[in-house]
Amino acid sequence: MLVRLANETDLAGFRREARALLARRVPPDEVHWSAGPYHDDLFAGAPSPEGEPPPDGGVAVPPAFLELCHTVVLHSEPQRFALLYRLLWRLAHEPALRHDPLDADMLQARDMAKAVQRDIHKMHAFVRFRQVQDGEDALDPLHVAWFEPDHYIVEANAPWFRRRFANMRWAILTPQRCVEWDRRELHFRAGALRSDAPPPDAGEQLWLTYYQHIFNPARLKLKMMQKEMPRKYWRNLPEAQLIAPLAAQAQERSGVMIEQPPTTPLRRIPRFPDRPPAIGHPDALAELNARTQRCRDCPIGAGATQAVCGEGPLKPALMFVGEQPGDQEDLRGRPFVGPAGQLFDRALAQAGVARESVYVTNAVRHFKFEPRGKRRIHKTPSQEEALACRRWLDDEIAIVQPRALVALGATAARSLLGRAVAVLSERGEWFDRADGVRVLVTVHPSSVLRMDEAQQPRAFDAFVGDLRKLR
Ligand code: URA
Repeated sequence: MLVRLANETDLAGFRREARALLARRVPPDEVHWSAGPYHDDLFAGAPSPEGEPPPDGGVAVPPAFLELCHTVVLHSEPQRFALLYRLLWRLAHEPALRHDPLDADMLQARDMAKAVQRDIHKMHAFVRFRQVQDGEDALDPLHVAWFEPDHYIVEANAPWFRRRFANMRWAILTPQRCVEWDRRELHFRAGALRSDAPPPDAGEQLWLTYYQHIFNPARLKLKMMQKEMPRKYWRNLPEAQLIAPLAAQAQERSGVMIEQPPTTPLRRIPRFPDRPPAIGHPDALAELNARTQRCRDCPIGAGATQAVCGEGPLKPALMFVGEQPGDQEDLRGRPFVGPAGQLFDRALAQAGVARESVYVTNAVRHFKFEPRGKRRIHKTPSQEEALACRRWLDDEIAIVQPRALVALGATAARSLLGRAVAVLSERGEWFDRADGVRVLVTVHPSSVLRMDEAQQPRAFDAFVGDLRKLR
């Protein structure tokens, strides 16, 4: 049987014919489908009329299949109608088909739909209008674009351009179909020739200058660019003429960028240091803290906002030692007040230890970081840097006189015990120091924060378990 549809994307015709064929039980291999050319006078974008009969011929097809039909008919593959009718026939005769995600016909239809969607997306991205003076009003030019789609997507895509460029008059010319918007209606016409499209205009020069300015040589990834903007589109894109020269200069230009001295981020000095007053023997501790502020025994101090000293009561039962202040601590001048500090507070509370009753400090007094854009990324202090800070920690322990120490993580454990500590195997254990103060080793709270969300609850419980030993 020969079935001829009105035009290349005649979904309504296909549905009507398919329904009749199914009702007459005509198997797919007895049907030959073809489609006539578009006619100049068709108005489209017009969806199929309301109330049109479904293409099922008595078969209830899943809504997803109807959606698939809408897209697949836009494909340029001549066998698309045969494929869709075969699928419809099989849906009617093979109930298991709708549950088979690997069926070859279904996979082919889905691949075709994907290719159409990609083409639609490329048309959104790569249509470039040029102005044409087609009337009296110089302020109201017609904007004309030339585009070469792979599939029959012009009518389906026209409403998107109507919404996007509602207030200007435009026309998109393609080899199969043209569409024009006069601010009232979309008009569809037969295909055009490339030579019908206008030559470059002044607006294009502006666009080229803009493109040149936004081009970042350090970000150039030619393979990725060609994947996103395949070469076949280049001849219709004004900016494509710039790609080769800009790419050729990219290495040299990024070399120059790398050679430039780094720009230092503005130093953020807190206007109101929110340090609580020291309790106990303020003089010794205050003097120690004042001297720590001036310390330049290692390079970290030069980049930080301020030295962050410990805080808490003197002669506490416990003194906790972290690694170094983080971004928030550096700004506020207090230890453990950022995200790791919040987790630390929660763990202390669950372990039944009041934060106000303990002294909290760090092995290293300044924030070591790497500037990345506007952010400051934490960097682990080196052994030399931690060693340079040891004297402040030792003096602080001598002044504060805690009954016991808790090392939070490897840097603190090394500073307190004077040797490398394998935190994961030695956590939860007590060790003796030369000065007679005992040290419990546990993990750093930020190691819990760095874990996958799924693993965090267990790691948090284990941290709390270590802290419970302190009671
Ligand atoms: N991490 C630390 O080791 N100390 C702080 O004060 C904050 C985060």
